[in-house]
Amino acid sequence: MLFTVGPNRLSGGRLFKKHFDQSIGVHEVAIATPSWPSAFNGLRIGHVSDFHLGDLMPIDRALNAVSMLAAQEPDIVICTGDVVDLHVDGSFALLEALANVHAPLGTMLVLGNHDELDCANTLSEMATRAGVQLLRDASCQINHNGNALNVAGIDWAKTTKQCKNKIENVCDQDTHVLLSHNPKAFTTASELGIPLTLSGHTHGGQLAMPKRKGANLAVAHKYTAGTYERGDSRLFVTVGVGAWFPLRVNCPAEVALITATTSE
Ligand SMILES: [Fe+2]
Repeated sequence: MLFTVGPNRLSGGRLFKKHFDQSIGVHEVAIATPSWPSAFNGLRIGHVSDFHLGDLMPIDRALNAVSMLAAQEPDIVICTGDVVDLHVDGSFALLEALANVHAPLGTMLVLGNHDELDCANTLSEMATRAGVQLLRDASCQINHNGNALNVAGIDWAKTTKQCKNKIENVCDQDTHVLLSHNPKAFTTASELGIPLTLSGHTHGGQLAMPKRKGANLAVAHKYTAGTYERGDSRLFVTVGVGAWFPLRVNCPAEVALITATTSE
């Protein structure tokens, strides 16, 4: 109310209108690392996060973002959490749309802090019913043409230490991809040599300085937007589809299409 509905009422509805007039873009990202499995060289990952379905993300806007992603024909769809904002009502249609992108390797989801604020179990049940594979401190193996891609996902963890505890429970030396709402997971993921970590949560601060990586409002985070490298490990932090407050400056909402390749 403090940052959304209240100020919007005071502005006579102009705040939301201006926010909704800002379009969502497709962000194409190339990520290369020698540790990426060569059998999945060129894998196209549709990465979305932080819809925050609610006052600032009506279902039609969310479904439109999923359609944009589907048009890219990704091999796999990954959602790194904060599907909902304050309540899970109405989120089934979004989860179903994510499942219906029909990416050949499926649709996967990890939960964010906002998903846990209301009822993580209800959202989890909805995701499973919709056909989305949910990774709650769990891992899975995607088999394609006789080769395996090992994907692990952790539930919301607030601190680097909490991320570390969860990662050590679900990852091993064969993990190729880690899904974590919180990018703080990258500290441990890179120490373990996990080739690719996908995260959201920061929204890129929503307010950013032009062309200055890291100069944004997400001051509590080291990894705030875009691609990061540590050794042979890579992290991609999407600035997300939705918003916490109805303003984005130099940080447009996005659906990301990542092409992961094996470099020399
Ligand atoms: Fe979040």
